Amino acid sequence: MGGTSDAVVVVDFGAQYAQLIARRVREAHVYSEILPHSASASEILARRPKGIVLSGGPRSVYAEGAPRVDPGIYRAGVPVLGICYGAQLIALDLGGEVARTGAGEYGRTPLTVLPAPKGSSLLAGWPSPNEVWMSHADSIVAAPPGFEVTASTPGAPVAAFEDAGRRVVGVQFHPEVVHTERGQELLKRFLHDMCECRPTWTRSSVIEGAVESVRSKVGAGRVLCALSGGVDSAVTAALVAKAVGDRLTCVFVDTGLMRAGEAAQVEETFSRRLGLDLVHVKAADRFFAALGGVEDPEEKRKRVGELFIRLFEEVAKERSDARFLAQGTLYPDVVESGGPHAATIKSHHNVGGLPERMGLELVEPLRLLFKDEVRAVGEELGLPEEIVWRQPFPGPGLAVRIAGEVTRERVEIVRAADSVVLDEVRRAGLERELWQAFAVLPAVRTVGVMGDERTYAYPVVVRAVTSEDAMTADWARLPYELLERLAARLVNEVPGVNRVAYDITSKPPGTIEWE
Ligand code: XMP
Repeated sequence: MGGTSDAVVVVDFGAQYAQLIARRVREAHVYSEILPHSASASEILARRPKGIVLSGGPRSVYAEGAPRVDPGIYRAGVPVLGICYGAQLIALDLGGEVARTGAGEYGRTPLTVLPAPKGSSLLAGWPSPNEVWMSHADSIVAAPPGFEVTASTPGAPVAAFEDAGRRVVGVQFHPEVVHTERGQELLKRFLHDMCECRPTWTRSSVIEGAVESVRSKVGAGRVLCALSGGVDSAVTAALVAKAVGDRLTCVFVDTGLMRAGEAAQVEETFSRRLGLDLVHVKAADRFFAALGGVEDPEEKRKRVGELFIRLFEEVAKERSDARFLAQGTLYPDVVESGGPHAATIKSHHNVGGLPERMGLELVEPLRLLFKDEVRAVGEELGLPEEIVWRQPFPGPGLAVRIAGEVTRERVEIVRAADSVVLDEVRRAGLERELWQAFAVLPAVRTVGVMGDERTYAYPVVVRAVTSEDAMTADWARLPYELLERLAARLVNEVPGVNRVAYDITSKPPGTIEWE
């Protein structure tokens, strides 16, 4: 997919820094690919990058075994931008100096832009001071020979340095985070001016590339696609349908553990609106039977996963002419499993955890895309907003939002509660700001009083989090008025509920889901 676009390689020095940079590059309409720092210069250059970005990282350049980059990249004539740790590596590799000054900087920091006497600074014309976001302990105290120092902060005498002739730049601050006022502008100048990348990574080129690669892989074959009701599998199906038309069969396994209206929405969108061949497997009874008496969260996951596979295998056997299985694997999964050319993806990242031993070859049209790009593609393909902006939902469904045994009665309670939570969040206009908002049913009951009567019923826990990528999350500071409405509606409208609590745990130490 990146084949026809100009590409930039982001070298990853750890943590989540590289993914955020890669996303920002793509927001500037340039294709980006992440490679581990252990990649050799020839592996990096084999991608024919028009630019290389060295990411930040969690370590000190002086720590034992601190990651380095193959210095061959500096000799290739390709522009290089080092960010934070990456800038310190450039300084070290090319003859500058990094010191433990003891004056680290964290968070918002005023940046003084210095007049660059020669060449074109990426910071040219910036107001001074302006706000950048810093996170460093060591500091660059001398730029390498031939470089201009173009900015400083109170704790970083060399906050930005540049050799315009060689087209190598280092910035101690993080242009990829939103708190750096002109961060995206700096990235754009690097990409469009210094690297001369064309801004060709657009929704339509992404779709064209994905459709083309599905077509060339599948040829005249038939494809199966498991739909979950979520955005990834929906966009996968829509892209594959665009590529192979009626040679796609979608399979929706109704586990009885889905959110309210999910099954109907999948039918409406894929069968009626898009006219796709949809097999609707109604299997709630089998799932409840499999979950009977099970309280352990891992056991629940295992049983749901196994039954899902068995049901899918049954469909695959009936459709034995299908040779391909379409899955919504995303780029972050690919990066975490060792790069786009790595052979295996962690099984829990696959839709429904379907195994390859079913004898179906995988088709993964979202393999190069981030979640926000998947949503953009979904919008472009005309999928309904409710699907495109649907919040993530765990594969085992409501089974892992019920502590203790999963019974029909308890699923009904948590489903109705979930629906109220989402409805109120939508009304408050907060749906897109939150990563997720949902209800959890704990395994206790509490005493209450309603209409002069004593009640002994379930509490519901409301969980709402903000997050960039689900690796970390913060509890959402929902307005009190919204919490108040939730408390009233949940108790009044959901039979069996007499109390509402709000979960104020971040991740870590908590996880987003309760199980
Ligand atoms: P946790 O609870 O680990 O969840 O903080 C992180 C994100 O992943 C979702 N999640 C799952 N998604 N299958 C999935 O496809 C699963 O088994 C699963 N478990 C958790 C969760 O909703 C959150 O967005």
